[in-house]
Amino acid sequence: MSDVQDRRRFLAFLAASPLFAGEAQAAVRRLVAREAPRRDTLDFAVQLVDASRQPTPIRRAADALDVFDFEPVAERRIPIAHWGYLAGGTDDDATIAANRDGFARWALRPRRLVDTSRVDASVTLLGQRWPTPIVINPVGYQRAFHPLGELAVARAARAKEHLQVLSTVSTTSIEDAIAARGAPLWYQLYHDAGDWARTKQIVRRVEAAGASAIVFTVDLLAGSNRETLVRSARRDPRNCLTCHEGGPPVPGMTGNVADRRGQSRIPMLNGYPPVPREPEVGLATWEWVKRLQDTTTLPVLLKGIVTKEDAELAVAQGIRGLFCSNHGGRAENSRRASVASLPEVLEGAQGKIPVILDGGVRRGTDVFTALALGATAVGIGRPYIWGLGAFGQEGVEMVLAILRKETELVMAQCGAPSIARITRAHVVAR
Ligand SMILES: Cc1cc2nc3c(=O)[nH]c(=O)nc-3n(C[C@H](O)[C@H](O)[C@H](O)COP(=O)(O)O)c2cc1C
Repeated sequence: MSDVQDRRRFLAFLAASPLFAGEAQAAVRRLVAREAPRRDTLDFAVQLVDASRQPTPIRRAADALDVFDFEPVAERRIPIAHWGYLAGGTDDDATIAANRDGFARWALRPRRLVDTSRVDASVTLLGQRWPTPIVINPVGYQRAFHPLGELAVARAARAKEHLQVLSTVSTTSIEDAIAARGAPLWYQLYHDAGDWARTKQIVRRVEAAGASAIVFTVDLLAGSNRETLVRSARRDPRNCLTCHEGGPPVPGMTGNVADRRGQSRIPMLNGYPPVPREPEVGLATWEWVKRLQDTTTLPVLLKGIVTKEDAELAVAQGIRGLFCSNHGGRAENSRRASVASLPEVLEGAQGKIPVILDGGVRRGTDVFTALALGATAVGIGRPYIWGLGAFGQEGVEMVLAILRKETELVMAQCGAPSIARITRAHVVAR
């Protein structure tokens, strides 16, 4: 009897709680009215409390208040194995958390009484002007998130005038992506680790298609341990073998090299005429990068630089720009925020080449912080894929629009009407 009384009292307490509104409150009131002493009543009430604390997922892209609003919608729509590929990092995903935490370590120092009635967030990268400093970073396999994949992203990039960097492991060819973008994009290169002849074919194709730069990613050369991806794939009721010949992903590998069928669906790795092999020896080094620079007419940037020493070497070798990046916490589990690496990378770059910061950028405040620390621009990965997975092109456009609006607002609030007016004095360590 005392159990029943306790339950009744608890339900009455819940029914009166301001936590509940509308439907949830009515449901609790019904429970109280029935005084149902069933075993599961309490569980149900607790579930109601939990449910009432979750924000309702948005139904339309236009309802989003910030980029995080797209994440739960995308999670519901993307198959769990693919979600694990998107959301996961390496080992225990600590570097993903570090990337966000890195921004939380900085505070703003807004300057007052500056006329910011007009804000211009445009930047120039390798001689080209962009309305915002927000770059659409390379993300592989985008048809795993939405049937139109990179095409939808290219159309959104066109609509919102953003620089897009296409991944080597994109599910859309560079020719189709440039046609959809209606302008050149940058090409992110993963070289053929075994065959220089094949890498050269990829480079020639990219040049012929009209890319305006090559971004060589240097942080995955040793592989990476994607545990969240593997765990998610194990929870996926579908059979990975239906699409991926090599089966589910395995720890310690970035992709599944045995997945020939999967690879055959990557346009940039297929369709080349046979040529004699030129076997590579060992992993890529600075000498290899030099070979790449000598081979292409396009400017070469490096993505994945996190130290002053490597930034210095890059400048000395004529590299045209850097992405200060830890691959969104998907390479080594350094547990160091990319924004924490930024000051030393900038020191190494000595202002001679642009430095783009990516990893954990989710708010206009983050964009502003990175620029105040000295970055030329920022890159985003997961946020625009949340938009893509949730609402296709419209979702990507809305993510870009929100980040632009937030960035311009923070610039206005801090007394910086242009990117050039954002200074190191606008931020302070917390
Ligand atoms: C699912 C996924 C796939 C990615 N694929 C690539 C890729 O093919 N090439 C590359 O250089 N970076 C790739 N990245 C890294 C992004 O370019 C970027 O560095 C990172 O996502 C930035 O961190 P953020 O996701 O916190 O914004 C990928 C990131 C994610 C999340």
